[in-house]
Amino acid sequence: MSTATDVYYDPYDVAINADPYPTFARLRDEAPVYYNEQYDFWALSRHADVEKGLVDWRTFSSRHGDILELIQSGLTLPPGVVLFEDPPLHPLHRGLMSRVFTPKKMAALEDEIRAYCVQCLDPLVGRDRFDIIQELSIVMPMRVIGMLLGIPESDQEAVRDKSDATLRTEAGKPMEVREDNIADGSMFVDYIEWRSKNPSDDLMTALLNAEFEDHLGETRTLTRDEVHTYTQVLAGAGNETTGRLIGWMVKVLADHPDQRREIVADRSLLGAAIDETLRFEPTGPHIARFVPDDVEYYGTTIPGGSAALLLVGAANRDERRYERPDEFDIHRDDIQHLTFGFGIHYCLGANLARLEARVALDELLNRFPDWDVDMSDAALAPTSTVRGWDRLPVVIP
Ligand code: HEM
Repeated sequence: MSTATDVYYDPYDVAINADPYPTFARLRDEAPVYYNEQYDFWALSRHADVEKGLVDWRTFSSRHGDILELIQSGLTLPPGVVLFEDPPLHPLHRGLMSRVFTPKKMAALEDEIRAYCVQCLDPLVGRDRFDIIQELSIVMPMRVIGMLLGIPESDQEAVRDKSDATLRTEAGKPMEVREDNIADGSMFVDYIEWRSKNPSDDLMTALLNAEFEDHLGETRTLTRDEVHTYTQVLAGAGNETTGRLIGWMVKVLADHPDQRREIVADRSLLGAAIDETLRFEPTGPHIARFVPDDVEYYGTTIPGGSAALLLVGAANRDERRYERPDEFDIHRDDIQHLTFGFGIHYCLGANLARLEARVALDELLNRFPDWDVDMSDAALAPTSTVRGWDRLPVVIP
């Protein structure tokens, strides 16, 4: 394949990030294996390559993390973080974590999530304008993780601020990686100690008591350090991603009022609307991996020791995979997307995120069947890992 193309992509470029889809289309067509010299990373963009790459953990390893800056930082990552592990350790830790993500547990949270949503949205009724990010996106997902873990309400905001600050980047620049901000779990220490003495029917109590066989063949419960890490991983993985999804739902349905009206009339469409939003505007446009050994794509060798981005945002709109990929269409037969990843690291919180988004949209539509967004006052977040709105004013007609 010829590499004679001037297509340029980097995840820190604010202008590209504002609308990455034309660049993604050019990457798929002109440089399906792409190298960025400035930031020294490779990128795959076609659906088939991204999907296969996510499954093939030997070629695309998570051992140095799944964020470009982490992989390139050369830091030693904390042990026990599922996202940063390959087999044989990964299935062990994932198995333990997934025990508490049962459909039964998820279903039990629905009423609580709905009550919280109602509490956020009811005060907005009668207003002709509000910022959905401040009113719902920023607050709800952390509360839900809090519900899951049993974190007291008073501690929840501090927990969220700490976790978001870790992912925040200066516009146009890579994220700063420091040893003390990777999944250290420090925010949860007091709470975990308190919960260990006050057990209840929550994920934290389940985690503290879960018995498992470790990689040395010993049956034991998790150490406190391990519990801290687990909790931080959940908060880091499930907070901003889900918040940004709520923002995108509001934006995309403002742009497609006909489809929004259909959902108002038929709530069985909520699930499809959420997955089509995840396909169309994925909150995480790329997943990074470490490439331990040389691998060839389209006649070009990605050298061993490289970092690679698997461009989920490009894959989700690959015309080789989807019909009319640039159209938002909640009636697609096959909405499956790669936004929750694929293969062994497939998002453990996918059903929780879907549940939150479904309840949020349902309650929003109950109060506001019509809305528009004021794009002159909207702002995209300057985060390289998660793409979404920092401010999104909703205007009620
Ligand atoms: C819209 C919301 C969300 C999106 C887009 C999302 C996306 C992802 C993606 C792409 C991965 C795979 C990363 C990789 O392959 O390296 C992942 C993994 C994970 N997610 Fe989510 N996530 C969301 C919500 C949540 C929630 C609500 C939770 C939990 C409270 C959660 C917990 C996790 C965990 C624990 C993993 C690690 C699984 C593993 O490594 O085996 N996520 N998520």
